[in-house]
Amino acid sequence: MTDDANSMWGGRFAAGPDAIMEAINASIGFDQRLAAQDIEGSRAHAAMLAATGIITDNDAEAIREGLLTVLSEIETGTFRFSTALEDIHMNVEARLKDLIGEPAGRLHTARSRNDQVATDFRLWVRGQCDAAVTSIQALQKALLVQAEAGADWVMPGFTHLQTAQPVTWGHHMMAYVEMLGRDASRFADARARMNESPLGAAALAGTSFPIDREATAKALGFDRPMANSLDAVADRDFPLEFLSSASICAMHLSRFAEELVIWSSAQFRFVAMSDRFSTGSSIMPQKKNPDAAELVRAKIGRILGATVGLFTVMKGLPLTYSKDMQEDKEQVFDAADNLMLALAAMEGMVRDMTGNPEALRTAASSGFSTATDLADWLVREAGLPFRDAHHVTGSLVALAEAEGKDLPDLTLDQMKSAHEAITDDVFTVLGVDNSVASRTSYGGTAPDQVRAQIARWKEILT
Ligand code: ARG
Repeated sequence: MTDDANSMWGGRFAAGPDAIMEAINASIGFDQRLAAQDIEGSRAHAAMLAATGIITDNDAEAIREGLLTVLSEIETGTFRFSTALEDIHMNVEARLKDLIGEPAGRLHTARSRNDQVATDFRLWVRGQCDAAVTSIQALQKALLVQAEAGADWVMPGFTHLQTAQPVTWGHHMMAYVEMLGRDASRFADARARMNESPLGAAALAGTSFPIDREATAKALGFDRPMANSLDAVADRDFPLEFLSSASICAMHLSRFAEELVIWSSAQFRFVAMSDRFSTGSSIMPQKKNPDAAELVRAKIGRILGATVGLFTVMKGLPLTYSKDMQEDKEQVFDAADNLMLALAAMEGMVRDMTGNPEALRTAASSGFSTATDLADWLVREAGLPFRDAHHVTGSLVALAEAEGKDLPDLTLDQMKSAHEAITDDVFTVLGVDNSVASRTSYGGTAPDQVRAQIARWKEILT
């Protein structure tokens, strides 16, 4: 081994790496984010090695203290990361050797960087699952406040972005509470599945040392050790589940963000975004732009991109570890950071935004939004088959449109011209309030139904 060769694995090497080799090989630029998890894993491993008599208690104690010093150096920013040492694992171990000397060389007994990195990354992604659930719930709480304030504000419900039927603001907010609830449960499910320890799988085949994998699993908060050492070092389904869950959540956020962009426009005025989550224009003094909503709308791009990226890295890789898998981290870090930011921005926007009940009501009252109520009335009160009622109502919508009126503005005579069974009573269902109040089916938009769902979610989220 020359002086240039790597001190961790350079025994069989006569020369050090080319500079380009070092640049493409090193991951320390990004995997230093795993420092805390790496040290946690090493502490658990060292304690287990001592408990099983593989190393002495004295060595384990020196390692433990040394690792705590390394951790504090990293936390305080005095640690000097070295690209020549490739990654976080070798950076930590090399510094440990500077600090405590020979015992540091015993830490890597019965372990490989393969099970080490799988362990570190699992711990990190597991933490992000928990963080995602917390951020999602904060957003759900902000939505509940909005839903409660406007449980009976009438607004247009859309299909094809065309006015469909009146709904309530509260109902619309609660739709996102439901979606986010499933998002949170996806992260919780992923967490439960990934919560098994790869540590002790060693390079790929396990080890001949009498290790105690149950002990390290328990020390790291895992439910159990992974049952197959090849699987333990080879699979990256856990970040893929995280990214898939993140992509679905980001897709939900993107849809809501798009609605906020539309709703805050001068043409809609359904909602006023707060100054705190808007920006101005450098040339047009009147502008107040919903930049935060636009950026949340866009975040799905990089999060889904990371998902596709990691799937592409992993597909076709033969078991077990290949260096390709070092490319599993950066995009997960980026996706996680941006998901948390998007959730926080959305929470802030929702908390600060002001719905405009008058504009919502005016919009709900136009566009023949109660045409279905008229058709339902014809079925219920005049005994028409729904298809006929649909046809009669359609002809009345055409008549109203030709006259530049809304349905409730037609005269009774005009109504009767479409079907003689229509009476004055029909006007009671043509108002938007009556329309929403009548939708009392489970999960429907009637304010009473909405309030029942708000109460249910308040219970869940406390
Ligand atoms: N930096 C590596 C990674 O992130 C650690 C594992 C290296 N293992 C190896 N056999 N070269 O994947």
